[in-house]
Amino acid sequence: MHFKESMTFLGRFAKSPRRIGSVAPSSKFLTKAMLDRVDWENAKYIAELGAGTGVFTREIVKRARPDARILVFEIDPALQKLIREEHPHHEGLSLHSDAQELHRYMNDNGIKQLDFVISSLPFTVLPPRMTVKILDAVVKSLKPEGHFVAYQYSSIMKRVLKKKFAHMKTRFVMFNIPPAFVYDCWR
Ligand SMILES: C[S@@+](CC[C@H](N)C(=O)[O-])C[C@H]1O[C@@H](n2cnc3c(N)ncnc32)[C@H](O)[C@@H]1O
Repeated sequence: MHFKESMTFLGRFAKSPRRIGSVAPSSKFLTKAMLDRVDWENAKYIAELGAGTGVFTREIVKRARPDARILVFEIDPALQKLIREEHPHHEGLSLHSDAQELHRYMNDNGIKQLDFVISSLPFTVLPPRMTVKILDAVVKSLKPEGHFVAYQYSSIMKRVLKKKFAHMKTRFVMFNIPPAFVYDCWR
């Protein structure tokens, strides 16, 4: 990961700590733990929520099927710019702002249901109403067999996620700042 990328992220954190939710982009260990949960062969419609500097986006683009459609959500304009600059010509990738608008962008892109939603959103520090709205949108947008893969820095969200999904696999990733829990949830 580039120094410039880390400094941009830290700068955005200093401006809006609750929205960014972390001081550094995810490590390669967390990236792997998150993205290894995805069945890449069968994932055609994917959404990434809270892309930040694009550490997951970069890897999603590498791993995804050539015909996959990837909806990337990042609310911070400076971070959006980084992602746009890194993927200027990727046909299957579209960049959007607020994850609360997940359905609108699915409709705009002619996507009915998603196979996987990969989230880095800092749910525990976002406004509670926003968290509820996004989680409801995620549940509604997934195929019955679809997965929601999310990381969090605490286990606070575990109870909430268990109410929304029948199945859950959890993994703890030590080598990240800070260490994180990966939740793979499905119905
Ligand atoms: C903890 S950072 C994760 C960044 C990156 N995915 C990573 O793992 O390094 C969370 C990101 O979510 C973004 N974010 C927060 N609220 C959002 C929302 N409602 N819609 C889209 N992105 C949001 C923040 O701007 C921030 O970049």
